[in-house]
Amino acid sequence: MDRQAHYRELKAEIESIVAGETYVPARYASAACLLAEAFRPRFFWTGFYVVDPQKADELVVGPYQGTLGCLRIPFGKGVCGVCAAEQKTQLVPDVHAFPGHIACDSRSNSEIVVPVFDRDGTLAAVLDVDSTEYDAFDAVDQEGLEAICKILLTA
Ligand code: SME
Repeated sequence: MDRQAHYRELKAEIESIVAGETYVPARYASAACLLAEAFRPRFFWTGFYVVDPQKADELVVGPYQGTLGCLRIPFGKGVCGVCAAEQKTQLVPDVHAFPGHIACDSRSNSEIVVPVFDRDGTLAAVLDVDSTEYDAFDAVDQEGLEAICKILLTA
């Protein structure tokens, strides 16, 4: 199965598993688990940083699969913080070349971060996937992950 088909299948699977579940962390945790399983070992760290409801300009770690992640990331800092500030997917082939990259685990070498929006278009979280390989992510991952992030909002 090619990766595009794999992403389509995963999206349908995640959609059916989270259908009717209104508790957002349960939706994020299920998506992180299925994505990490599907693309192991390329996906070394897979999870969500959510917008802190008490501090609109800071992300706090949410459900994830992988090694210990840092707890908080201010908007504008590192790849996740830039994704949150710009509300645009960040595809980073070499994290060491990214200004202000936050190294939670020194084994991470490339990264993709996708924004997750609420139904009203407000940023809710970012989905962060890190790899130990350089240049591990491409447009197929971007398209697949963006499509999955669109179905994570509460029904
Ligand atoms: N590398 C990320 C930080 C989060 S973790 O790697 C889990 C960044 O620069 O946004």
